[in-house]
Amino acid sequence: EHLALWGGRFSGASADALTELSRSTHIDWRLAPYDLAGSRAHARALAGAGLLDEAELTAMLAALDTLGQRVASGELTPAPDDEDVHTALERALLAEAGPQLGGKLRAGRSRNDQIATLIRMYLRDAARYLSSKLLAVVRALVSQAERAGDAVMPGRTHLQHAQPVLVAHHLLAHVWPLLRDIARWQDWDKRAAYSPYGAGALAGNTLGLDAQAIAAELGFSAPEHNSIDATAARDLVAEFSYICAQIGVDLSRLSEEIILWNTREFRFVTLDDAYATGSSIMPQKKNPDVAELTRGKSGRLIGDLAGLLATFKGLPLAYNRDLQEDKEPVFDAIDTLDLLLPAIAGMVETMVLNYERMAELAPQGFSLATDIAEWLVHGGVPFREAHEISGRAVAFCEKRGIELWDMNDDELRSIDVRLTPDVRDVLTVAASVGARRGAGGTAPERVAEQLASVRESIGRA
Ligand code: ARG
Repeated sequence: EHLALWGGRFSGASADALTELSRSTHIDWRLAPYDLAGSRAHARALAGAGLLDEAELTAMLAALDTLGQRVASGELTPAPDDEDVHTALERALLAEAGPQLGGKLRAGRSRNDQIATLIRMYLRDAARYLSSKLLAVVRALVSQAERAGDAVMPGRTHLQHAQPVLVAHHLLAHVWPLLRDIARWQDWDKRAAYSPYGAGALAGNTLGLDAQAIAAELGFSAPEHNSIDATAARDLVAEFSYICAQIGVDLSRLSEEIILWNTREFRFVTLDDAYATGSSIMPQKKNPDVAELTRGKSGRLIGDLAGLLATFKGLPLAYNRDLQEDKEPVFDAIDTLDLLLPAIAGMVETMVLNYERMAELAPQGFSLATDIAEWLVHGGVPFREAHEISGRAVAFCEKRGIELWDMNDDELRSIDVRLTPDVRDVLTVAASVGARRGAGGTAPERVAEQLASVRESIGRA
Protein backbone atom coordinates (compact mmCIF):
# COMPACT_ATOMS: atom_id res chain seq x y z
CA GLU A 1 0.00 0.00 0.00
CA HIS A 2 0.99 3.60 -0.42
CA LEU A 3 3.58 4.87 2.00
CA ALA A 4 2.91 8.51 2.83
CA LEU A 5 5.81 10.26 4.51
CA TRP A 6 3.61 13.09 5.66
CA GLY A 7 0.35 11.44 6.82
CA GLY A 8 -0.60 13.58 9.83
CA ARG A 9 -1.42 16.88 8.25
CA PHE A 10 -3.12 15.54 5.15
CA SER A 11 -6.64 14.25 4.85
CA GLY A 12 -6.66 13.01 1.27
CA ALA A 13 -4.40 11.04 -1.05
CA SER A 14 -2.24 12.67 -3.73
CA ALA A 15 -3.71 13.18 -7.17
CA ASP A 16 -2.47 10.61 -9.66
CA ALA A 17 -1.04 13.41 -11.78
CA LEU A 18 1.07 14.58 -8.85
CA THR A 19 2.27 11.06 -8.12
CA GLU A 20 3.30 10.64 -11.73
CA LEU A 21 5.08 13.98 -11.81
CA SER A 22 6.77 13.44 -8.48
CA ARG A 23 8.13 9.97 -9.05
CA SER A 24 11.90 9.79 -9.54
CA THR A 25 12.65 6.14 -8.78
CA HIS A 26 13.30 5.37 -12.45
CA ILE A 27 16.20 7.81 -12.21
CA ASP A 28 17.43 7.75 -8.62
CA TRP A 29 17.25 4.01 -7.93
CA ARG A 30 20.94 3.72 -8.79
CA LEU A 31 21.55 5.58 -5.52
CA ALA A 32 20.02 2.76 -3.46
CA PRO A 33 23.34 1.27 -2.26
CA TYR A 34 24.46 4.74 -1.18
CA ASP A 35 21.14 5.37 0.57
CA LEU A 36 21.61 2.14 2.53
CA ALA A 37 25.20 3.03 3.41
CA GLY A 38 23.92 6.40 4.67
CA SER A 39 21.24 4.65 6.67
CA ARG A 40 23.78 2.36 8.34
CA ALA A 41 25.91 5.35 9.34
CA HIS A 42 22.82 7.20 10.52
CA ALA A 43 21.66 4.20 12.57
CA ARG A 44 25.05 4.10 14.31
CA ALA A 45 24.77 7.82 15.05
CA LEU A 46 21.28 7.30 16.51
CA ALA A 47 22.71 4.54 18.72
CA GLY A 48 25.59 6.82 19.68
CA ALA A 49 23.05 9.42 20.80
CA GLY A 50 21.19 6.82 22.84
CA LEU A 51 18.18 6.74 20.52
CA LEU A 52 18.62 3.09 19.53
CA ASP A 53 19.73 0.48 22.04
CA GLU A 54 22.31 -2.18 21.23
CA ALA A 55 19.73 -4.79 20.19
CA GLU A 56 17.84 -2.27 18.05
CA LEU A 57 21.03 -1.20 16.30
CA THR A 58 21.97 -4.80 15.56
CA ALA A 59 18.50 -5.56 14.20
CA MET A 60 18.48 -2.34 12.17
CA LEU A 61 21.88 -3.04 10.60
CA ALA A 62 20.83 -6.60 9.82
CA ALA A 63 17.66 -5.37 8.15
CA LEU A 64 19.63 -2.81 6.12
CA ASP A 65 22.09 -5.52 5.05
CA THR A 66 19.21 -7.69 3.93
CA LEU A 67 17.83 -4.82 1.90
CA GLY A 68 21.28 -4.33 0.39
CA GLN A 69 21.39 -7.94 -0.77
CA ARG A 70 17.86 -7.73 -2.16
CA VAL A 71 18.71 -4.53 -4.04
CA ALA A 72 21.87 -6.11 -5.44
CA SER A 73 20.04 -9.24 -6.58
CA GLY A 74 17.33 -7.18 -8.24
CA GLU A 75 14.68 -8.73 -6.02
CA LEU A 76 13.89 -5.43 -4.34
CA THR A 77 12.74 -2.74 -6.74
CA PRO A 78 10.67 0.40 -6.25
CA ALA A 79 6.89 0.09 -6.27
CA PRO A 80 4.85 2.37 -8.57
CA ASP A 81 3.69 4.37 -5.55
CA ASP A 82 7.19 5.01 -4.21
CA GLU A 83 8.10 8.62 -4.79
CA ASP A 84 11.86 8.28 -4.72
CA VAL A 85 14.71 5.99 -3.70
CA HIS A 86 14.39 7.09 -0.06
CA THR A 87 10.67 6.33 0.08
CA ALA A 88 11.10 2.96 -1.57
CA LEU A 89 13.82 1.90 0.86
CA GLU A 90 11.88 3.19 3.87
CA ARG A 91 8.89 1.11 2.78
CA ALA A 92 11.11 -1.92 2.42
CA LEU A 93 12.73 -1.28 5.80
CA LEU A 94 9.35 -1.05 7.53
CA ALA A 95 8.41 -4.37 5.97
CA GLU A 96 11.75 -5.95 6.89
CA ALA A 97 12.26 -4.60 10.42
CA GLY A 98 8.66 -3.92 11.39
CA PRO A 99 7.09 -0.48 11.94
CA GLN A 100 8.31 -0.25 15.55
CA LEU A 101 12.01 -0.43 14.73
CA GLY A 102 11.86 0.65 11.07
CA GLY A 103 9.99 3.80 12.06
CA LYS A 104 12.91 4.99 14.19
CA LEU A 105 15.47 5.43 11.43
CA ARG A 106 14.10 8.65 10.03
CA ALA A 107 14.72 10.57 13.27
CA GLY A 108 17.09 13.50 12.85
CA ARG A 109 17.45 13.35 9.12
CA SER A 110 15.58 14.67 6.15
CA ARG A 111 15.52 13.56 2.56
CA ASN A 112 17.15 16.95 1.97
CA ASP A 113 20.41 16.17 3.73
CA GLN A 114 20.13 12.56 2.57
CA ILE A 115 19.93 13.29 -1.15
CA ALA A 116 22.61 15.97 -0.95
CA THR A 117 24.92 13.40 0.64
CA LEU A 118 24.06 10.52 -1.67
CA ILE A 119 24.65 12.48 -4.85
CA ARG A 120 28.12 13.43 -3.61
CA MET A 121 28.95 9.84 -2.70
CA TYR A 122 27.76 8.62 -6.08
CA LEU A 123 29.62 11.31 -8.01
CA ARG A 124 32.85 10.75 -6.05
CA ASP A 125 32.78 7.08 -7.06
CA ALA A 126 31.87 8.00 -10.63
CA ALA A 127 34.82 10.43 -10.80
CA ARG A 128 37.23 7.65 -9.84
CA TYR A 129 35.62 5.14 -12.17
CA LEU A 130 35.52 7.48 -15.17
CA SER A 131 39.07 8.72 -14.47
CA SER A 132 40.38 5.21 -14.93
CA LYS A 133 38.43 4.86 -18.18
CA LEU A 134 39.77 8.22 -19.37
CA LEU A 135 43.25 7.04 -18.48
CA ALA A 136 42.80 4.24 -21.02
CA VAL A 137 42.31 6.89 -23.72
CA VAL A 138 45.45 8.64 -22.48
CA ARG A 139 47.38 5.37 -22.60
CA ALA A 140 46.19 4.70 -26.16
CA LEU A 141 47.43 8.15 -27.26
CA VAL A 142 50.73 7.65 -25.46
CA SER A 143 51.22 4.27 -27.10
CA GLN A 144 50.60 5.87 -30.51
CA ALA A 145 53.11 8.60 -29.61
CA GLU A 146 55.67 5.96 -28.65
CA ARG A 147 55.10 4.07 -31.89
CA ALA A 148 55.50 7.30 -33.90
CA GLY A 149 59.10 7.80 -32.72
CA ASP A 150 60.59 10.73 -34.63
CA ALA A 151 57.99 10.65 -37.44
CA VAL A 152 56.94 14.11 -38.63
CA MET A 153 53.76 15.72 -39.86
CA PRO A 154 52.55 19.13 -40.94
CA GLY A 155 51.74 21.21 -37.87
CA ARG A 156 48.79 23.48 -38.58
CA THR A 157 47.27 26.74 -37.48
CA HIS A 158 43.99 27.87 -39.05
CA LEU A 159 44.05 24.34 -40.51
CA GLN A 160 46.81 25.58 -42.85
CA HIS A 161 50.33 24.16 -42.94
CA ALA A 162 52.31 26.15 -40.38
CA GLN A 163 55.50 24.41 -39.21
CA PRO A 164 56.48 20.72 -39.19
CA VAL A 165 56.08 18.92 -35.87
CA LEU A 166 56.70 15.45 -34.53
CA VAL A 167 53.66 13.19 -34.76
CA ALA A 168 54.31 12.27 -31.12
CA HIS A 169 54.29 15.96 -30.19
CA HIS A 170 50.88 16.42 -31.80
CA LEU A 171 49.43 13.32 -30.15
CA LEU A 172 50.73 14.39 -26.75
CA ALA A 173 49.03 17.75 -27.28
CA HIS A 174 45.78 15.80 -26.97
CA VAL A 175 47.04 14.02 -23.87
CA TRP A 176 47.70 17.06 -21.67
CA PRO A 177 44.11 18.36 -21.64
CA LEU A 178 42.91 14.88 -20.71
CA LEU A 179 45.43 14.70 -17.86
CA ARG A 180 44.14 18.08 -16.70
CA ASP A 181 40.60 16.68 -16.80
CA ILE A 182 41.68 13.85 -14.52
CA ALA A 183 43.37 16.39 -12.24
CA ARG A 184 40.14 18.42 -12.30
CA TRP A 185 38.26 15.48 -10.87
CA GLN A 186 40.90 15.01 -8.16
CA ASP A 187 40.65 18.68 -7.30
CA TRP A 188 36.83 18.61 -7.41
CA ASP A 189 36.91 15.71 -4.99
CA LYS A 190 38.55 17.88 -2.33
CA ARG A 191 35.47 20.11 -2.39
CA ALA A 192 33.06 17.18 -2.60
CA ALA A 193 34.61 15.52 0.45
CA TYR A 194 32.27 17.28 2.92
CA SER A 195 29.17 15.50 4.15
CA PRO A 196 25.75 17.20 4.23
CA TYR A 197 24.46 14.50 6.62
CA GLY A 198 23.26 16.06 9.85
CA ALA A 199 22.03 19.23 8.15
CA GLY A 200 18.49 17.87 8.44
CA ALA A 201 15.87 19.70 6.42
CA LEU A 202 17.97 22.89 6.46
CA ALA A 203 18.67 24.06 10.01
CA GLY A 204 20.63 21.20 11.54
CA ASN A 205 19.43 18.54 13.97
CA THR A 206 18.52 18.55 17.64
CA LEU A 207 19.26 14.94 18.46
CA GLY A 208 22.97 15.12 19.23
CA LEU A 209 23.99 12.98 16.25
CA ASP A 210 27.72 12.73 15.60
CA ALA A 211 27.95 14.18 12.10
CA GLN A 212 31.73 13.68 12.08
CA ALA A 213 31.33 9.96 12.64
CA ILE A 214 28.74 9.72 9.87
CA ALA A 215 31.01 11.68 7.54
CA ALA A 216 33.97 9.42 8.30
CA GLU A 217 31.94 6.25 7.82
CA LEU A 218 30.79 7.47 4.41
CA GLY A 219 34.30 8.39 3.28
CA PHE A 220 34.00 12.16 3.74
CA SER A 221 36.67 14.20 5.46
CA ALA A 222 34.24 16.28 7.57
CA PRO A 223 30.63 17.47 7.83
CA GLU A 224 29.66 20.49 5.73
CA HIS A 225 30.05 23.81 7.52
CA ASN A 226 26.59 25.27 6.95
CA SER A 227 23.40 23.21 7.05
CA ILE A 228 21.56 25.57 4.68
CA ASP A 229 24.36 25.42 2.12
CA ALA A 230 24.69 21.69 2.67
CA THR A 231 21.11 21.03 1.58
CA ALA A 232 20.69 23.83 -0.98
CA ALA A 233 23.93 23.84 -2.97
CA ARG A 234 24.40 21.83 -6.13
CA ASP A 235 27.43 23.65 -7.50
CA LEU A 236 29.41 20.45 -7.04
CA VAL A 237 26.99 18.64 -9.34
CA ALA A 238 27.37 21.38 -11.95
CA GLU A 239 31.15 21.33 -11.56
CA PHE A 240 31.22 17.59 -12.04
CA SER A 241 29.10 18.01 -15.14
CA TYR A 242 31.44 20.73 -16.41
CA ILE A 243 34.34 18.29 -16.16
CA CYS A 244 32.32 15.76 -18.19
CA ALA A 245 31.50 18.43 -20.77
CA GLN A 246 35.16 19.51 -20.95
CA ILE A 247 36.21 15.91 -21.53
CA GLY A 248 33.58 15.76 -24.27
CA VAL A 249 35.04 18.88 -25.87
CA ASP A 250 38.61 17.62 -25.59
CA LEU A 251 37.70 14.28 -27.16
CA SER A 252 35.61 16.01 -29.80
CA ARG A 253 38.63 18.01 -30.96
CA LEU A 254 40.66 14.82 -31.21
CA SER A 255 37.78 13.16 -33.05
CA GLU A 256 37.45 16.01 -35.50
CA GLU A 257 41.11 15.55 -36.43
CA ILE A 258 40.76 11.81 -36.83
CA ILE A 259 37.74 12.40 -39.09
CA LEU A 260 39.85 14.75 -41.23
CA TRP A 261 42.88 12.46 -41.19
CA ASN A 262 40.65 9.60 -42.35
CA THR A 263 39.57 11.42 -45.53
CA ARG A 264 40.75 10.59 -49.01
CA GLU A 265 42.42 14.01 -49.09
CA PHE A 266 44.48 13.61 -45.91
CA ARG A 267 45.09 9.83 -45.86
CA PHE A 268 46.90 10.17 -42.50
CA VAL A 269 45.15 7.32 -40.78
CA THR A 270 43.53 3.95 -41.38
CA LEU A 271 40.94 2.94 -38.83
CA ASP A 272 40.71 -0.63 -37.71
CA ASP A 273 37.66 -2.44 -39.06
CA ALA A 274 36.53 -3.07 -35.50
CA TYR A 275 36.20 0.67 -34.94
CA ALA A 276 34.75 1.74 -38.30
CA THR A 277 31.37 1.24 -39.92
CA GLY A 278 30.18 0.61 -43.47
CA SER A 279 27.36 2.01 -45.53
CA SER A 280 24.08 0.25 -46.29
CA ILE A 281 24.23 1.41 -49.91
CA MET A 282 27.83 2.34 -50.76
CA PRO A 283 29.98 -0.79 -50.63
CA GLN A 284 33.27 1.12 -50.56
CA LYS A 285 32.51 3.17 -47.44
CA LYS A 286 34.42 2.93 -44.18
CA ASN A 287 33.13 5.57 -41.85
CA PRO A 288 34.66 7.01 -38.67
CA ASP A 289 31.49 6.66 -36.61
CA VAL A 290 33.24 6.39 -33.24
CA ALA A 291 34.84 9.78 -33.80
CA GLU A 292 31.61 11.25 -35.11
CA LEU A 293 29.57 9.95 -32.18
CA THR A 294 32.17 11.36 -29.82
CA ARG A 295 31.87 14.73 -31.52
CA GLY A 296 28.08 14.45 -31.44
CA LYS A 297 27.81 13.32 -27.85
CA SER A 298 30.03 16.17 -26.70
CA GLY A 299 27.07 18.42 -27.62
CA ARG A 300 24.90 16.34 -25.35
CA LEU A 301 27.41 16.66 -22.48
CA ILE A 302 27.40 20.43 -22.90
CA GLY A 303 23.59 20.31 -22.86
CA ASP A 304 23.61 18.41 -19.58
CA LEU A 305 25.72 21.15 -17.99
CA ALA A 306 23.62 23.96 -19.47
CA GLY A 307 20.45 22.27 -18.20
CA LEU A 308 21.82 21.98 -14.68
CA LEU A 309 22.90 25.60 -14.51
CA ALA A 310 19.52 26.73 -15.82
CA THR A 311 17.75 24.62 -13.20
CA PHE A 312 19.81 26.05 -10.34
CA LYS A 313 19.96 29.70 -11.27
CA GLY A 314 16.69 30.97 -9.81
CA LEU A 315 16.48 28.87 -6.68
CA PRO A 316 16.13 30.57 -3.30
CA LEU A 317 17.73 28.87 -0.30
CA ALA A 318 17.40 26.20 0.95
CA TYR A 319 15.98 23.00 -0.60
CA ASN A 320 13.50 23.26 -3.46
CA ARG A 321 12.01 20.35 -5.30
CA ASP A 322 13.56 21.65 -8.52
CA LEU A 323 16.78 20.14 -7.18
CA GLN A 324 15.43 16.69 -7.95
CA GLU A 325 16.10 17.60 -11.59
CA ASP A 326 19.86 17.54 -10.98
CA LYS A 327 20.14 13.79 -11.29
CA GLU A 328 18.98 13.01 -14.82
CA PRO A 329 21.48 15.32 -16.58
CA VAL A 330 24.49 14.37 -14.48
CA PHE A 331 23.67 10.66 -14.72
CA ASP A 332 23.31 11.10 -18.47
CA ALA A 333 26.76 12.70 -18.59
CA ILE A 334 28.23 9.78 -16.65
CA ASP A 335 26.48 7.15 -18.78
CA THR A 336 27.52 8.95 -21.97
CA LEU A 337 31.20 8.98 -20.99
CA ASP A 338 30.93 5.40 -19.79
CA LEU A 339 29.93 4.37 -23.33
CA LEU A 340 32.22 6.73 -25.15
CA LEU A 341 35.55 6.30 -23.41
CA PRO A 342 36.16 2.60 -24.19
CA ALA A 343 35.18 3.12 -27.84
CA ILE A 344 37.49 6.06 -28.36
CA ALA A 345 40.32 4.32 -26.47
CA GLY A 346 39.94 1.31 -28.78
CA MET A 347 39.77 3.43 -31.93
CA VAL A 348 42.93 5.36 -31.00
CA GLU A 349 44.82 2.28 -29.86
CA THR A 350 44.13 0.37 -33.09
CA MET A 351 44.34 3.11 -35.74
CA VAL A 352 47.31 2.95 -38.08
CA LEU A 353 48.99 6.25 -38.85
CA ASN A 354 50.46 6.75 -42.30
CA TYR A 355 53.84 8.23 -41.36
CA GLU A 356 55.00 8.26 -44.97
CA ARG A 357 52.13 10.41 -46.13
CA MET A 358 52.53 12.73 -43.15
CA ALA A 359 56.26 13.11 -43.79
CA GLU A 360 55.63 13.82 -47.45
CA LEU A 361 53.28 16.67 -46.59
CA ALA A 362 55.29 18.03 -43.65
CA PRO A 363 57.53 20.43 -45.66
CA GLN A 364 54.82 21.42 -48.14
CA GLY A 365 52.90 24.67 -48.09
CA PHE A 366 56.16 26.54 -47.36
CA SER A 367 56.16 25.32 -43.78
CA LEU A 368 59.92 25.96 -43.55
CA ALA A 369 59.62 29.70 -44.20
CA THR A 370 60.00 30.52 -40.50
CA ASP A 371 63.25 28.56 -40.51
CA ILE A 372 64.66 30.86 -43.20
CA ALA A 373 63.70 33.92 -41.19
CA GLU A 374 65.26 32.55 -38.01
CA TRP A 375 68.41 31.52 -39.87
CA LEU A 376 68.75 35.17 -40.95
CA VAL A 377 68.18 36.30 -37.35
CA HIS A 378 71.10 34.12 -36.28
CA GLY A 379 73.15 36.10 -38.83
CA GLY A 380 72.18 39.38 -37.16
CA VAL A 381 69.27 40.41 -39.41
CA PRO A 382 66.40 42.03 -37.46
CA PHE A 383 63.42 39.68 -37.45
CA ARG A 384 61.18 42.26 -39.06
CA GLU A 385 63.45 42.30 -42.09
CA ALA A 386 64.11 38.57 -41.99
CA HIS A 387 60.36 37.91 -42.09
CA GLU A 388 60.10 40.16 -45.13
CA ILE A 389 62.97 38.39 -46.94
CA SER A 390 61.57 34.94 -46.25
CA GLY A 391 58.16 36.15 -47.41
CA ARG A 392 59.70 37.26 -50.70
CA ALA A 393 61.27 33.82 -51.08
CA VAL A 394 57.83 32.22 -50.59
CA ALA A 395 56.26 34.56 -53.15
CA PHE A 396 59.10 33.79 -55.59
CA CYS A 397 58.64 30.02 -55.24
CA GLU A 398 54.87 30.19 -55.27
CA LYS A 399 54.91 32.05 -58.58
CA ARG A 400 57.19 29.44 -60.14
CA GLY A 401 55.54 26.45 -58.58
CA ILE A 402 58.71 25.32 -56.82
CA GLU A 403 59.63 24.69 -53.18
CA LEU A 404 61.97 26.77 -51.04
CA TRP A 405 64.77 24.21 -51.23
CA ASP A 406 64.56 24.18 -55.06
CA MET A 407 65.97 27.72 -55.39
CA ASN A 408 69.47 27.82 -56.84
CA ASP A 409 72.26 30.02 -55.49
CA ASP A 410 71.51 32.86 -57.89
CA GLU A 411 67.83 32.84 -57.11
CA LEU A 412 68.54 32.94 -53.40
CA ARG A 413 70.90 35.87 -53.87
CA SER A 414 68.38 37.66 -56.10
CA ILE A 415 65.95 37.73 -53.20
CA ASP A 416 68.54 39.04 -50.74
CA VAL A 417 72.33 38.92 -50.76
CA ARG A 418 72.27 37.58 -47.21
CA LEU A 419 70.52 34.42 -48.41
CA THR A 420 73.73 32.44 -48.97
CA PRO A 421 73.65 28.75 -50.01
CA ASP A 422 74.14 27.79 -46.35
CA VAL A 423 70.49 28.58 -45.75
CA ARG A 424 69.68 25.20 -47.29
CA ASP A 425 70.96 23.60 -44.08
CA VAL A 426 67.73 24.65 -42.37
CA LEU A 427 65.47 23.72 -45.27
CA THR A 428 64.74 20.17 -44.18
CA VAL A 429 62.01 18.95 -41.88
CA ALA A 430 64.56 17.18 -39.68
CA ALA A 431 66.54 20.40 -39.23
CA SER A 432 63.37 22.37 -38.61
CA VAL A 433 61.99 20.14 -35.85
CA GLY A 434 65.47 19.48 -34.44
CA ALA A 435 66.04 23.20 -33.98
CA ARG A 436 62.92 23.68 -31.85
CA ARG A 437 64.68 22.76 -28.64
CA GLY A 438 63.04 25.41 -26.49
CA ALA A 439 60.84 24.35 -23.58
CA GLY A 440 57.87 22.33 -24.77
CA GLY A 441 59.17 22.39 -28.34
CA THR A 442 58.94 19.73 -31.02
CA ALA A 443 62.66 18.74 -31.05
CA PRO A 444 62.97 14.97 -30.57
CA GLU A 445 64.82 15.33 -27.25
CA ARG A 446 62.13 17.71 -25.87
CA VAL A 447 59.38 15.33 -26.99
CA ALA A 448 61.20 12.45 -25.30
CA GLU A 449 61.24 14.45 -22.07
CA GLN A 450 57.57 15.23 -22.56
CA LEU A 451 56.77 11.55 -22.91
CA ALA A 452 58.64 10.89 -19.69
CA SER A 453 56.62 13.48 -17.78
CA VAL A 454 53.38 12.18 -19.26
CA ARG A 455 54.30 8.70 -18.04
CA GLU A 456 55.01 10.17 -14.63
CA SER A 457 51.61 11.92 -14.56
CA ILE A 458 49.90 8.68 -15.56
CA GLY A 459 51.64 6.98 -12.66
CA ARG A 460 50.27 9.61 -10.30
CA ALA A 461 46.73 9.68 -11.75
N1 ARG B 1 13.86 13.10 -4.26
C1 ARG B 1 14.29 14.39 -3.84
C2 ARG B 1 15.45 14.88 -4.66
O1 ARG B 1 15.99 14.14 -5.38
C3 ARG B 1 14.72 14.38 -2.43
C4 ARG B 1 13.54 14.49 -1.56
C5 ARG B 1 13.39 15.80 -0.96
N2 ARG B 1 12.02 16.09 -1.10
C6 ARG B 1 11.37 16.95 -0.37
N3 ARG B 1 10.12 17.07 -0.57
N4 ARG B 1 11.95 17.67 0.56
O2 ARG B 1 15.83 16.03 -4.58
